[in-house]
This record gives sequence, structure tokens and C-alpha cells, in this order.
Amino acid sequence: MDELASVDGTIGPAAQMTIPVTDEGLLRGDGVFEVARLYAGRPFAWDEHVERLQRSAANLRLEFDLEAALAEVDALLAKVGPVDGAIRLVITRGGRRVAVVSPLPERQRAVALGTVRYAPTRVLDAVKSLSYAANMLASRLAREAGADEALLVSPHGRVLEAPTSAFFFVLDGRLHTPPLADHVLDSITRRHVLELTGATARVLHEDLLGELEEAFLASTTREVQPVSSIDGRPLPAVPGPQTTEAADALRHRIAAQLRLT
Ligand SMILES: Cc1ncc(COP(=O)(O)O)c(C=O)c1O
Repeated sequence: MDELASVDGTIGPAAQMTIPVTDEGLLRGDGVFEVARLYAGRPFAWDEHVERLQRSAANLRLEFDLEAALAEVDALLAKVGPVDGAIRLVITRGGRRVAVVSPLPERQRAVALGTVRYAPTRVLDAVKSLSYAANMLASRLAREAGADEALLVSPHGRVLEAPTSAFFFVLDGRLHTPPLADHVLDSITRRHVLELTGATARVLHEDLLGELEEAFLASTTREVQPVSSIDGRPLPAVPGPQTTEAADALRHRIAAQLRLT
């Protein structure tokens, strides 16, 4: 798939589209974004992404022209046609509206996690901001330590999420995910999985990681991705039954909402 992008409504090949170098979105990571997955060219849960984008921008005191951004996304989607991929919508402090359609990243069937110490930036609670260097570094540190992806753990030992996905775990036979009060992102996939499975929010201390029966990551681009090990300790079931159930239920909801056949 050729990556196409729109900058303030001008559409062209993504690699050739530009924004001014003075944009504080670039210079300071000051801005907000959303990523929605495209199924045959149609974004799943788009309304929820738009709602979160508005909330992120309001929390960051960033004003932007929502109507223009949505119309530009529509025009870009009309141009790319029925592709499977992802659409990223970025609003910068410099006032640029950037939309990019890209192929999905390659994903392994199951992922080995390595814990990385991480303190959420509290002032950015409920802001999906462009400031992702810490998340990207966490993934890199986990890979340097031999894992595929990071599992972020707070300085007090509370398990949080992965750098770009929510974390679910089965403990004592029940499915849980860390609470939003621990400053994890209000992930849209997390919301859907909670609803579909009846999972509940529960604080997880890292001391209990060895007791987990199953675990998976959840995000827009991954949907549900089983976890195979944490810090080198294999999980007993990969994917376990509750992981499979969650993955199937989410796929089913996506297909039903988008009326995919
Ligand atoms: C820190 C973080 N947690 C969780 C997620 C998953 O969120 P969603 O399900 O809305 O894609 C993301 C997505 O980028 C993220 O960046």
C-alpha cells in the first residue's frame, strides 16, 4: 500500500508531505493524535476516537477545527479506497491537521514482555499527546533486554500497560486490567474488551506477575495479542481460553459494527 497523507486538506504521498519546522508539535511533541484501524477502508469505533481526540485537545488547551479535520479524513479515506491499514490523525500546536493512512505494522502471534520502570506524566492524564519518546524508549529498552515489547511498571511496582497497548491478565481464574486511576490510557480497545468479557479493573503488583494464568495486550492495531512470557517466565497458556474468547468477541463486534462479511 502506498502511504497517503493529508496536510490541512492537501493530499499527497505521505513521504512528500511537509509541515513547517517551527511547529511545536515537532519541536516539543506538543499536540494530540488518534490512530484508528481500517477494515476494508472503514475505521472501527471512529466516533470514540474522535471523542477522545476532542477531549485530549481540550485537556491540552489546544484549539483546532474539528469539522475541517473530519472532512479531510473523509476525503483521504475516499482516495485510499477499501484498504486494511490504519489512519492516524494528528493535530499540532502549530495548527496543522495531518492525516496519514499506513499499512499495519507486522505483529507476532504472541509477544514476550520485559518490565520497564515508568512514571506516568500525571499532567497528561486523559491526553493522547504527541509526547511519546518515553514510550518508544521503553520498547527499545525491553528489546535490548531480549523481550519483544515493554510492560510498564510504576516506581511503586504497579503494572500499568505497554507503550502502545493496554494490558489484560488472568489471575485466580478472572480477567482483569489495571485501573485508569493508575494513569494508564483510556484505551478504546480496553473499553470494548471490558464490555465484551465482563473483565474488571484491578491493581496488579509486579510481585504477582509470576502467578498470572494468561495475559494479552489490547490496542486498535493489535486487537488482542497473546503474551507468551514476562521477564523470561513463560505463561502457562498461550493463548489461554480467556484470551481466545476476548479475541473472538472483539473480532465479532468489529465485523458486526462494520457489517463485514
Ligand atoms: C499508552 C497506550 N496505551 C494503550 C493504547 C491502546 O489504545 P487504543 O485501544 O485506543 O488503541 C495506546 C494506543 O496507542 C497507547 O498509546
